[in-house]
Amino acid sequence: MEIVKMDLCHASQVAELEKQCFSDPWSLNAVTGEITNPLSLWLVALNGEKVIGYIGSQSVLGEADMMNLAVCPDGRSNGVGQALVQALIDALVGAGVSRLTLEVRVSNTPAIRLYEKLGFQTIGRRPNYYYHPKEDALIMGKELPA
Ligand SMILES: CC(C)(COP(=O)(O)OP(=O)(O)OC[C@H]1O[C@@H](n2cnc3c(N)ncnc32)[C@H](O)[C@@H]1OP(=O)(O)O)[C@@H](O)C(=O)NCCC(=O)NCCS
Repeated sequence: MEIVKMDLCHASQVAELEKQCFSDPWSLNAVTGEITNPLSLWLVALNGEKVIGYIGSQSVLGEADMMNLAVCPDGRSNGVGQALVQALIDALVGAGVSRLTLEVRVSNTPAIRLYEKLGFQTIGRRPNYYYHPKEDALIMGKELPA
């Protein structure tokens, strides 16, 4: 497995995984737009040419928001999700980002456990943040080393 920056050749596989993993997926156009967005950093985990996971973020004024993280269903519980979050943290630290936040469904125990394992703390809750189905989001955050 290797983790690299998302490129145009990965975008359609990422958009397919979005559809598989989320009830409100990003479109192929939206994913493709992130490649050239100067505020965005997306990484993909590759097994050969196959995208087995991805993570997306946007940064403004030294603070980043992690917007997307998914691992293909048959690749889970293998350390890929953790490796993607850690690779994003490393890249953001390298870019001088000092804080990373994210939203997660309150029922999403696997993701919450992953973020807690990597030192994220719950800093708030957004009522009815998600649709399909409607659900609150936990806001989690982590201070990054200088
Ligand atoms: C959340 C997700 C990305 C985790 O990816 P993964 O590759 O399966 O996770 P890893 O194997 O790297 O697990 C790392 C840690 O996460 C936690 N974790 C992962 N899966 C878990 C599960 N099913 N139950 C409880 N904890 C879990 C554990 O703490 C685990 O550490 P451990 O192996 O030492 O116990 C994956 O389940 C996924 O794609 N889910 C669907 C999309 C999604 O919900 N994305 C998050 C949106 S905020």
